[in-house]
Amino acid sequence: MEKKREGFGSRTAVIFAMAGSAIGLGNIWRFPYMVGEHGGAVFVLIYIVATILFSLPIFVAEVIIGRRSHTNARDAFVKLAPGKPFWRLVSILPIVIPTIIASYYSVIGGWSLEYFIKACSLDFLRTAPDMATDLFGGFVSSTWVPVIMHLVFLAMSAVVVALGVKAGIEKFSKFILPVLFILIVLIALYSMSLPGAGEGVRYLFWADFSEFTPRTFAYALGQSFYSLSLGMGIIITYGSYVRKDENILASSAGTAVSDLMFALLAGLAIMPAVFAAGIEPGAGPGLIFQSIPYIFCKMGQEAPTLSTIASVLFFFTVIVAAMTSLISLIEVGTAFLVEKFGMKRVRAVFAMFLICGTAGVLCSLSFGPLSGLTVAGMNIFDIFDWVASNILLLIMAFLSVVFVGFVMKKEDVRDEFTNGGAKRRNAPLFNAVYFLIKWVAPIAVLLIFFTNFIL
Ligand code: PFF
Repeated sequence: MEKKREGFGSRTAVIFAMAGSAIGLGNIWRFPYMVGEHGGAVFVLIYIVATILFSLPIFVAEVIIGRRSHTNARDAFVKLAPGKPFWRLVSILPIVIPTIIASYYSVIGGWSLEYFIKACSLDFLRTAPDMATDLFGGFVSSTWVPVIMHLVFLAMSAVVVALGVKAGIEKFSKFILPVLFILIVLIALYSMSLPGAGEGVRYLFWADFSEFTPRTFAYALGQSFYSLSLGMGIIITYGSYVRKDENILASSAGTAVSDLMFALLAGLAIMPAVFAAGIEPGAGPGLIFQSIPYIFCKMGQEAPTLSTIASVLFFFTVIVAAMTSLISLIEVGTAFLVEKFGMKRVRAVFAMFLICGTAGVLCSLSFGPLSGLTVAGMNIFDIFDWVASNILLLIMAFLSVVFVGFVMKKEDVRDEFTNGGAKRRNAPLFNAVYFLIKWVAPIAVLLIFFTNFIL
């Protein structure tokens, strides 16, 4: 497929587009349960520090690769390092990782769809708050409904990719992102007003260092990469659309801060509800589907209309946030099949649907009939997430910074960072950011990677 090399119009457009990819299920669904599984505030603290110290420089590095090469993620490495077979080989990773993630991302999208339907059919008004957990348990361990919801969600997203309605969906996400922000703030406020909610806020921000294990680092960094869509070729691709006069550091920092804020807000919406409902914070991937409905069921007893409007809006926005992300995940593989094998776009999308659909069915069943199938305590779903987020993403992020630090010429990197010297205020920061990219980020990722295996 010929990629149009049109660019983003302004800094706000860049931040919106990048934040649109970054903000998704990773913030609303994954972040809270990762916090719950990995020690609460210690995880949050490491996540914040890691985002600023490691993820932001890696983000900058990926944007630089994109803008310098001015091409898609697969060709970027080949173009900037011609005749180096290793980098040609590496360029396959940004195709494989999003495809693995898309498979299980769509399962969670399916859960959101089911909960959206529940909200529309007033199920939360009929359910006692204490039964919210059972409602989820019954749904997720059943065989057919979650599988069908996953396939429907994947099909909906695949249709959009096949139609290529990019402009529509992008405009839509620009509108929906602020709505999502407002909703999450309102839900956080309500959640924090519930009896027993203070415990949840404490759990998020009061670090208990006895909870710390070296693995906390690995998971916090994995979450940070995941949330910022790093190590997947997405930011490289978006970087290629960034205008030459755009300030890379400012746009990257803007995106990272919005993403971080959204994750913390989602934590504030969900953790107090978790504690108020007496749910175990380490409950895993189902955490938001147990705690948020608890809020809506409870609200339903006092203000049914408000509860219905809020629940319908909430799950609708989750669906849209998930869909815009899933679309970009499927698009990567689709574009690859079209470019590499000359497939027709519709066929390529169908192939992606079959691949992600089948893998996703296995992930979905791993909460029900296939739950006995585990490796080191992880079911199929967990394994997909772990391999992609804690191994492949780290490898790809590592290679991206090594590429900028050791393969690209320092002067070229400086040229991108300062826009050929035009961004004077960036110039004094260059050496520090370059040092973070060249030495700190790769060494940290390596250490974390090995800690993951050894400890
Ligand atoms: N960053 C997204 C999230 O936090 O939900 C996940 C994601 C979406 C990653 C799309 C990559 C991507 F292309």
